Amino acid sequence: MAVFRLAWWCLLVLVYAQFEVVFSDIEPSDSEALRALKDQWKNTPPSWRKSNDPCSWEGVTCSNSRIVSLGLSSMGLVGQLVGDIGGLTALTSLDLSFNGGLTGSISPRVGDLKSLNILILAGCSFTGNIPPELGNLQELSFLALNTNNLTGEIPSSLGSLSKLYWLDLAENHLTGSIPVSTNTEPGLDQLKHAKHFHFNKNKLSGGIPEQLFSDDMVLIHVLFDGNQLTGKIPTTIRYVQTLEVLRLDRNALSGEVPLNLNNLTSLSELNLAHNNLVGDLPDLNGMNALSYVDLSNNSFQQSEPPIWFSTLPSLSTLVMEFGPLKGKLPQELFSLSGIQQVKLRNNALNDTLSMGSSISEQLQLVDLQSNEIEAVTLSAEYRNTLELSGNPVCATALAHTTYCRVQQQTAKAYSTSLANCGSKSCSLDQKLSPQTCDCAYPYEGTLYFRAPSFRELSNANVWHSLEMSLWLKLSLTPGSVSLQNPFFNTDDYLQVYLQLFPSKGKRFNRSEIQKMGFYLSNQTYKPPPGFGPYFFIATPYDFLEGNKHASIGVGAIIGITTGCTLLIIILILLFLYAVCQKKRAEKAIGLSRPFASWALSGKEGGGAPQLKGARWFSYDELKKSTSNFSQANQIGSGGYGKVYKGTVSGGQVVAIKRAQKASMQGGHEFKTEIELLSRVHHKNLVGLVGFCFEQGEQMLVYEFMSNGTLRDSLSGEYSVTDEDYEVEIGTSYL
Ligand SMILES: *[C@@H]1O[C@H](CO)[C@@H](O)[C@H](O)[C@H]1NC(C)=O
Ligand SMILES: *[C@@H]1O[C@H](CO)[C@@H](O)[C@H](O)[C@H]1NC(C)=O
Ligand SMILES: *[C@@H]1O[C@H](CO)[C@@H](O)[C@H](O)[C@H]1NC(C)=O
Ligand SMILES: *[C@@H]1O[C@H](CO)[C@@H](O)[C@H](O)[C@H]1NC(C)=O
Ligand SMILES: *[C@@H]1O[C@H](CO)[C@@H](O)[C@H](O)[C@H]1NC(C)=O
Ligand SMILES: *[C@@H]1O[C@H](CO)[C@@H](O)[C@H](O)[C@H]1NC(C)=O
Repeated sequence: MAVFRLAWWCLLVLVYAQFEVVFSDIEPSDSEALRALKDQWKNTPPSWRKSNDPCSWEGVTCSNSRIVSLGLSSMGLVGQLVGDIGGLTALTSLDLSFNGGLTGSISPRVGDLKSLNILILAGCSFTGNIPPELGNLQELSFLALNTNNLTGEIPSSLGSLSKLYWLDLAENHLTGSIPVSTNTEPGLDQLKHAKHFHFNKNKLSGGIPEQLFSDDMVLIHVLFDGNQLTGKIPTTIRYVQTLEVLRLDRNALSGEVPLNLNNLTSLSELNLAHNNLVGDLPDLNGMNALSYVDLSNNSFQQSEPPIWFSTLPSLSTLVMEFGPLKGKLPQELFSLSGIQQVKLRNNALNDTLSMGSSISEQLQLVDLQSNEIEAVTLSAEYRNTLELSGNPVCATALAHTTYCRVQQQTAKAYSTSLANCGSKSCSLDQKLSPQTCDCAYPYEGTLYFRAPSFRELSNANVWHSLEMSLWLKLSLTPGSVSLQNPFFNTDDYLQVYLQLFPSKGKRFNRSEIQKMGFYLSNQTYKPPPGFGPYFFIATPYDFLEGNKHASIGVGAIIGITTGCTLLIIILILLFLYAVCQKKRAEKAIGLSRPFASWALSGKEGGGAPQLKGARWFSYDELKKSTSNFSQANQIGSGGYGKVYKGTVSGGQVVAIKRAQKASMQGGHEFKTEIELLSRVHHKNLVGLVGFCFEQGEQMLVYEFMSNGTLRDSLSGEYSVTDEDYEVEIGTSYL
């Protein structure tokens, strides 16, 4: 009965509410601050509305009654980062990454979070300035503000963050110059523990100060690409011996490349493309780690190919489009063991092209379009792409070969195979898991690799290693990662669409999403070597619960609780009353018959008990219907007794199971059996029509079924639905 279900639910609510009151002992100022943020934000996790204790809320970690961590990556939050955040003074980690609905400016009160160690606001929609107050966060080691719409200058106060290890301000609209320290102000040159300066894709201008770099720095990634920086490359850069990636491309840098850059022996990527650099090509001899070099689109002085074209042992990609090269390409370039791509279009190479006879097996692409090459000595060994269109040699000898046609890049981009899944497809919002071939809701987003050491994208092993590192480090089931269509975008970043599938079920829960979001935003996840620095931007995730409980606040819960208490009290009183009534009735009628309680509820009054359609038969009626239990009507027998076929009033053909004396049950057991059978719904069991409990007989009357079904049926298993159970209890007591 609905009333009982309601009562049961009420009981749960009361027990739950009790727990809430008992176990919430969090510092009131923390609780207040977080509640204020909660009121500010839409789409907070459902647990934030169900419970009163912030420490039980998803994404909130408490320690010693203080809130120490807030991890809400990819939650679909909408709202602002208001001043109340400053109240969470024990916070050590704040991750709000990939909530595109977070807008407005970053509250200066974030600067009050003196214990903060990790601050990640990447991939939101914050505007306005970076608050200079962030310089107060003396414990900060990880600061990621990338991929927002921040404007204004980089505050010089960030130079006070002496423990800072990761500084990512990329992909904003920051202007002004890179601040270095003065007599009165700190500057970024003081960040002696920083390993990452990611300032790419802003509107920074002015020169890169000489003062910025020194030999006591430990930088490994300097990404200043895609700004409006002018002036010379600082000569001090060569002191930063730890440097692995230097991207100064896509600026307006001028002057000569400083001498002794080749002191940077750990450097694996050097990208100086798309500037106004002049003078000699830099000397990169001795840079034994160098794998990727791009010097395209500058204004270097014409030059023969430098020695280092033949000597860099790790070189995989050499790019110098619209470059100054003339003369002959050394054939040793094509024999470097790791060389994959040589892209030298629009130079003035004019001598015979000879690739030699020991061409690297890795070599996939040689693009020499629009040079002045007049003759080519082809090697039978090389079967991959060679582009020569726009060279004099194509006007004559090779005119009809593929080398001289403008070639389409036909190599098919890699995508994780779904071949095992046949032609199966999923509804719009779901995706096919490559591991189970089930449709599910993956956690999706784009991975951007800012400086991979390779260019060649057709090698499936590279992608398999990326897939494997993802499921391993994010604790997913092997194979539950899908990668799609990697390509180099216009900023020269390698872009890959990523889908991570849940290990079981269709969806990830909130905690799992937060964890993955954090692993990808704070760089806990590290890709295989060669992929270089990366960042991830998640696509909003579709959590099933939506806003179903949006309207149930704490106030409502108090209301419900009160209502429930009343309801339960009333039910108890009713129950007691019913018991009294029953006792009285039993006494009055003087019956100890097992069917007395049925009789009380019988609509026909008095002697005809009713039970969910099961009818009461008199002994005489059944005797008559079976021709006095004649042999001819007997259709079966067993240890329990005999079964007869009969026709009862109304013409219904029935099977009557008549218990023999020895197997007779007590009255209460028989009643119980009837109650049970009348509630049974089973495909193999015939329905109970009624019963007879009279003149020392116990008989059960079933629907008649021909053949062996009946026997099967009588020994079939009972299955009782909860629904019926409740209804039964309801009828018995009220
Ligand atoms: C952020 O900037 C991009 C373009 O730079 C723009 O399309 C987007 O609307 C901006 N978002 C906000 C919240 O200002
Ligand atoms: C080259 O690096 C070494 C450290 O390995 C350093 O002592 C030296 O000063 C650097 N030389 C130049 C010219 O920068
Ligand atoms: C490189 O320079 C050439 C010639 O000046 C120009 O056509 C091309 O657009 C430039 N490429 C880029 C990416 O700036
Ligand atoms: C290539 O061009 C230079 C002048 O820029 C010329 O001296 C040289 O002879 C040319 N080489 C060939 C093989 O044509
Ligand atoms: C979320 O999923 C993880 C792992 O499957 C599980 O351990 C955790 O209890 C789940 N959390 C909730 C709130 O259901
Ligand atoms: C990411 O966060 C974890 C947990 O707080 C921390 O141990 C790890 O050092 C962080 N990673 C980085 C690169 O700071």
